[in-house]
Formats: sequence, structure tokens, C-alpha cells
Amino acid sequence: MPKKPAQATWGGRFAAGPAALMLRFSESVSFDRRLAPFDIAGSQAHAAMLAHVGLLTDKEHAAIHDGLDAIGAEIIAGKFKWDTALEDVHMNIERALAKRVHAAAKLHTARSRNDQVATDMRLWLRHACAVLDDKLRHSQRALLAVATEHRTTLIPGYTHLQRAQPVPLAHHVFAWLEMLQRDRDRLAVVAAHANWCPLGSGAIAGTTLPIDREFAARLLGFVDARGRPQVTQNSMDAVADRDLLVEFAAACALFGAHLSRLAEDLILWSSTEFGFVELADAFCTGSSLMPQKKNPDACELLRGKSARLHGHLTTLLTLVKGLPLTYNRDLQEDKPPVFDAFDQAALCADVLAGAVTGLKVNAARCAAAVADPALLATDLADWLVTRGVPFRDAHHAVGAAVKLAEQTATPLNKLPLAELKKINPAFVDGWEQVFDLKRALAKREGTGMPGPKQMARQFTRWEKTLK
Ligand code: ARG
Repeated sequence: MPKKPAQATWGGRFAAGPAALMLRFSESVSFDRRLAPFDIAGSQAHAAMLAHVGLLTDKEHAAIHDGLDAIGAEIIAGKFKWDTALEDVHMNIERALAKRVHAAAKLHTARSRNDQVATDMRLWLRHACAVLDDKLRHSQRALLAVATEHRTTLIPGYTHLQRAQPVPLAHHVFAWLEMLQRDRDRLAVVAAHANWCPLGSGAIAGTTLPIDREFAARLLGFVDARGRPQVTQNSMDAVADRDLLVEFAAACALFGAHLSRLAEDLILWSSTEFGFVELADAFCTGSSLMPQKKNPDACELLRGKSARLHGHLTTLLTLVKGLPLTYNRDLQEDKPPVFDAFDQAALCADVLAGAVTGLKVNAARCAAAVADPALLATDLADWLVTRGVPFRDAHHAVGAAVKLAEQTATPLNKLPLAELKKINPAFVDGWEQVFDLKRALAKREGTGMPGPKQMARQFTRWEKTLK
């Protein structure tokens, strides 16, 4: 049987090339080609550094730089021919460069694919965090618009999915904004952690050649707030570390959990049983059998996609767990979950923005639900407290009043005072003023509470934050 030719890039010590099955198994170019712009930027910085320290002539550097630009343009135009036999994005680009530029054989001086891919991923992550941050901000803005449009609408707030206390709809929406803001904070932390340059770590132990790591780092924007270059401090850790990817997947997973809870609220609210909102037609679907159905599929998928995002975090943790230092080929499997986490999180953020933009609020249904006087049972207990009743006794007395209201099918605020006095003599005329919703909310003016002044403050804060 004729022997296959040895692999061109690393094939020096091989007598024969890899089996077709092995190629199919080991290639990553089908998914890591999306790193191409970052790989090119990294190679251009590396080439500039090599020229800076005299390992490339200016002419060689210029040829490499321009050649990489041309390859980048070809990729964008969709004309680049990716070859799985060349395994990954790095070798595809290097081989294409070799075809154009004689000096290409010098590009990989003082570099390994190990520090190269670590650099590519850090560049990609910085970009991914910025894109996601923008999309999250956009979805927050769409939610803020809902809060603004329905500024005066009140709804029951829920604990245990049982009606608890009245809140402005906007207070509930602002709770979602807080969740998404924390997701953005987490992405910013990931981006900051990504901002260290691994280039120069080589395969594991750097290089004997006189490179200038800081020079390349500066070119790639791996700098602190004062413009000082930031380079990784241990060559072994630099090629083995995938913490960043785990952190990114964790940020996406938590974003997914938030989306899922938010979506669940909307699914409940849009059910006939609640009827607080109607979701936009454009983000719902019908039933092929039941003509009356309008299903909240976008929200259900937001809830469902979170499972996928959680899975990616688990995949990455499992991938790195138990790997001996330093680089192992297992690590190539980091990319599909990370890329999909980004793609799905980005898509979800867009869908959230789209779905809430057409949201209709049914003011009448909200008003009817929030008119339930039992929602202010706690306020009644607080009122007894102001009359000197210890809270535990007040709670008990109101509990008895609620029971009586239920037994006699009377709204809580319509119970006869004489009956209430039997429960606790602290009940006096004027007790029913507690059931005025306006009064109830106006009394909640501590920081973070849903009183009107606090709400106004939060509107101002979010308008400023989301500008
Ligand atoms: N495609 C590889 C990856 O994503 C690049 C690094 C390969 N390094 C190696 N020593 N084989 O992990």
C-alpha cells in the first residue's frame, strides 16, 4: 500500500500521514475557522515583534503582514479554501501564507500553536464580551421601555407563586434589569481577565530566542488602563489555562438562568389565568390543531436555551478537570461549547429585546389582580404595630381576620369592626385606610423599595445607566 505523505507542518519525524479517519476526528478547522481574524491579528503582531527584535527583516515583515491581510480579505469574501487535512485555523492560514510569501516559514519562529491558540481565544473573548454586553444593554433598554410605558401599573408581587404584596410593574421589570446588569458586570470581569497576553509562552517553556513579549502585547491591546502591556507570568499556566473559557461559560450560564426566570414570568403573565400581558404576535406561534392557541414559544425557547448554556459550562469544567499540565489535545474541545455559548446567548439577548418590544400590558387585568385586599394584610399588621401591638401578635390577629374573611366570604377590608375588635382590641376606626394602595406604596420609601420616590430614582438611574 502506498504510504500517505507526511503532514507538512509537523511531519518531519513521521514516515506516513494520518489516516483519513484520524483527520476527520482531529480536525478543528470546521469550528475554529471563526478565529481567523484574531489569528491573523495575532500573527501580525508576532511578525512585527520578530522584526522589532531582528528575527525578521523589514522586508520579510512587510511581506508577511500584507500576505496575512490578503488572506483575511479572501476569508471575508468567502473565497478561502479551508482544508481539514491541515487540522486547524492556524495551519490553514500559515500554509496559505507560505504559498504567497517566501518568508512565511519564519512566522512560526519562537511560537507554538499552544500560545497561539491561547492568544486567539483571549482576543476572541474580549470581542465576544463586548458584543454580548451591547446586546444585553439593548435588551435592558427594551425592558426599560416597558417599565416607562406602564409606569403607573400595579401588579401583585409573588412569593411561592402566591400573591404576596402589591408592587409597580416597573419594580418587577427593574428586578430583571438588576439581574441583567450583574450579567454584564460578570462579562466585564471576564474581559478584564482575558486582557493578558500569552504570546511568547511557546509550547510550554518559552523560547531561547530574544523575543519582546511586551511589544507584541502592546500591539494587540493587552494593556492596562495606563497603557502598560500585560503579559502572562507563567509559560506553563499560559498554555494550560482555560479558566477564562469556564468563566465566560459560567457568565453565559447564569445569564441563561436569568433569561429562563424572566421568560417564565412572561409565560405565566401571558396565560389566560393571569392575563397581565399579551406577547407580540411576531414572537409567538400558533397550534397546528387548536385554532385558538397563541403560544409563547420565544419565551419557552429562552427558558429551554438556558439548559444548553448550563450544559456548556459543565462540558468545560469536565474537560479541564483531571488534565495534567500543560497543553493536552483535549483542550481543542473547548471551542464548540464556548462558541455556542456565545452564539446562543447573543441570540437570546436579541430575542428578549424583540419579544418585549411588542409586549402589551392588560391594565384592567393587572388592576383587578392588585385590588385583592389580602395583598395588604402585612400592611394591616404593620398598622397594628404602630398601635403598640407586638408584630407576632399583630401577625396572628391579621391571620385570624383573613380566616374570618374567608369563612364569611367577605373581602378583608369589609369585615365589621366589631368582629375585628373581638380578635384584637387594638383594631379601631380608620383601620381600613390601610387598604388604600396609594398610601401603601407611599409608605415604602426606603432604598430599594417600591415607593413612588424610590421608583422615580430608579427610573433616573436606569435611564442613565442604559444610555
Ligand atoms: N487546534 C489546536 C487546539 O485548538 C491548536 C493547538 C494545537 N497544539 C498542539 N500541540 N497540537 O487546541
